[in-house]
Amino acid sequence: MEKPSDQSRMDRIVSLAKRRGFIFQSSEIYGGLNGFWDYGPLGVSLKRNLKECWWHDMVAGHDELSTPPGAPSGYEMAGLDCTIIMHPQVWKCSGHFDLFHDWLVDCRESKRRYRYDHLQGRWAAHRGKRVFVVTDQSGEEAAPHTVQKAQKFFGLRAKQVDEIEWEGGLVPLAAGVAAGTLALATALGPDASEPGTLTDPREFNLMFETRIGALAGGDDDRAFLRPETAQGIFMNFKNVLDTSRVSVPFGIAQIGKSFRNEITPRNFTFRSREFEQMEIEFFCKPSDSAAWYRYWRDRRWNWYLSLGLTAGKLQLREHGVDELSHYSVGTADIEYAFPFLADGEFGELEGIAHRGDFDLRSHMEGKLVRRDGQLVVELGPDGKPRHRGSGKDLSYFDDATRERYVPHVIEPSAGADRAVLAFLCDAYHEDEVPDEDGKPRSRTVLKLHPRLAPLKAAILPLVKKDGMPEVAVDLYRKLKAHMPCMYDEKGSVGRRYARQDEAGTPWCLTIDGQTLADKTVTLRDRDTLVQTRVPIEECVDMLRERLR
Ligand code: GAP
Repeated sequence: MEKPSDQSRMDRIVSLAKRRGFIFQSSEIYGGLNGFWDYGPLGVSLKRNLKECWWHDMVAGHDELSTPPGAPSGYEMAGLDCTIIMHPQVWKCSGHFDLFHDWLVDCRESKRRYRYDHLQGRWAAHRGKRVFVVTDQSGEEAAPHTVQKAQKFFGLRAKQVDEIEWEGGLVPLAAGVAAGTLALATALGPDASEPGTLTDPREFNLMFETRIGALAGGDDDRAFLRPETAQGIFMNFKNVLDTSRVSVPFGIAQIGKSFRNEITPRNFTFRSREFEQMEIEFFCKPSDSAAWYRYWRDRRWNWYLSLGLTAGKLQLREHGVDELSHYSVGTADIEYAFPFLADGEFGELEGIAHRGDFDLRSHMEGKLVRRDGQLVVELGPDGKPRHRGSGKDLSYFDDATRERYVPHVIEPSAGADRAVLAFLCDAYHEDEVPDEDGKPRSRTVLKLHPRLAPLKAAILPLVKKDGMPEVAVDLYRKLKAHMPCMYDEKGSVGRRYARQDEAGTPWCLTIDGQTLADKTVTLRDRDTLVQTRVPIEECVDMLRERLR
């Protein structure tokens, strides 16, 4: 049997996500809104569980009295919840106002818009005619798309496609233009019928703009939806320091919505325009910062593994010097091999960045730029700071060493939606299990970690009579007091197991004839399919213990 491609696997994951109420397209009845997604009943539980795991493991459950393995010392953690709209100066000093943009190109013919860095292409020739065929597809979809486009451009029938001569493989359009090996005028756009319809690339700021106040109109009312939660943390660095008795080293954590007007949202929820981030800004002494960077990089890597992501599909990638942001001293990405990517490609789940003192200094002094290896305040044509800082002192006085310094920042920045998508993709399995008559039946199962699973257990009376529902309802109520679970008596027990497998429920408790005789139930394990008899009185404690 032909092995299904990973793209078709992705299609089946998207279809399951919709069919079982994990994720829906936003405003679907009006045709949907590109880049916006809603979480259905199972999805909202999965995402909430993921965020709660993060909050518990990083913040609420953190033991500040001990030194975790790999950490230079013990440390404290505090939480925060900031507004989405902040003072516009925040974004000017952070650099987002000037620098948070992508390059876009428009197609004059199709009126479609593309991210310049997402376009790639290759030269095709046929009977003396030559064209650079551009695609906006990625992964294994890209090459076939160029074939399809070239066939149409040269007016060939399907059986003639082998006559097309291809010169080399796919190369990024931007690289070719920059190297002078091709001109946009010779490029056949992804949705165009003739070459030369792509405009020159231009900058596009990714921040969503809004206006504050009823009489909004002037430039002073312009505000932005935050493109990251991090800046709210820097805004409150001094507040937290002054009110919660934390001392350096300490971290401030926040989970919340961020908004980016992505030019080409794609790959299901991977690149959305509205999404949630889980960010920590960790403040430390400059001389300890390299050790803290390594600690957080490894700590966050291990967190994904602890929740069951397949190690072989994860990659920790240290950025090369040329890839680092102008303020960054070091950055590593934790990446996952999403099924919509080509073999060997990975998509970013989280970035761990050593940001030095860039952020706190920017908000004190004004927007910084790097000159001759130093971060200095950027000046405007009038010689004054281009974007003025707050002027507030955000330095820290270390009582123990009697030193004053601007703390350095290590920032583990994760996306909640990307993590949900990775856990969904990783958990998705298709296998065969014996049905009630012992015949093989194909099943779809989400092997989610029990901490993440939307429902922890299902309680199923074998039949709707002989006192079984009453016993099952009683067990359901006892269990529900401790964990999300459901009662289901509809359909054959095989179908009910299948429904729970698709929802990722780790355990099913079945009440049958024997239950009435000896007060035991069948505990079915979703992954191993092993069924064991457990005294009904022990079920609640046993599952609580397993969840711990
Ligand atoms: N404060 C640093 C920061 O925001 P980032 O790499 O731009 O860094 C951090 O974003 C994480 O946020 C990413 O690793 C990703 O998980 C998530 N993220 C960023 N843009 C996203 C988008 N358009 N859709 C979904 N998640 C996104």
